[in-house]
Amino acid sequence: MRIDIVSLFPEISRAPLQESMMKRAQEAGQVEIHCHDLREWASDKHRKTDDEPFGGGQGMVLKPEPLFACVRALESEQAHVVLMTPQGPRFDQKRAIALAKEQTHLLLLCGHYEGVDHRVVEALVDEELSIGDYVLTNGALAAAVVTDAVVRLLPGVLGDERSAWEESFSEGILESPQYTRPADYEGRKIPEVLLSGHHEKIAAWRREQALQRTRENRPDLLGEQE
Ligand code: ADE
Repeated sequence: MRIDIVSLFPEISRAPLQESMMKRAQEAGQVEIHCHDLREWASDKHRKTDDEPFGGGQGMVLKPEPLFACVRALESEQAHVVLMTPQGPRFDQKRAIALAKEQTHLLLLCGHYEGVDHRVVEALVDEELSIGDYVLTNGALAAAVVTDAVVRLLPGVLGDERSAWEESFSEGILESPQYTRPADYEGRKIPEVLLSGHHEKIAAWRREQALQRTRENRPDLLGEQE
């Protein structure tokens, strides 16, 4: 897979993708990630990428010219163009799985200020995505989040850990609590069932804990399941 991220602050998305699994995935050739500065495609001498909104209002809007030029320069036959914006449908694990399976080239455009000229959305964008119901100063962090969630699903990136985790999440509920050594930490003991060696009892305990957690923290997930 190839992923191009275009924003006014390429370092914001570059930095988190240069650590740990994302670093290894790139070194192993499982993904190629490029973070670009939108100003590269600004044609005027001041490298202006934004302007005031028509009709008045607060903030600035990203101009169409640099975005059209950048998409035309980076696009490939397979490119799937995504605009990161709080106005988009909410990104989730299902969407991450679909992008990892179906796409080979993601072009992530990051909004800034009050948004982007809507002609960009109409003419160039295949999909808008929001990473949650809050507003970031820039889409570059959101693009790094989407990239991480998609890349970890690519074949070979997580190895064996992956399938186990996916199975539990694909059930649509949260995970049960986990414990590691020591079994007694300053008098805080782990649940005894986990030391029993009885796999069925452990699985039943985990399922019950997962359901309880989901009921408490994310009742909306249980609603979706039924
Ligand atoms: N840009 C600013 N806020 C955002 C969000 N929540 N998701 C995606 N892009 C954004």
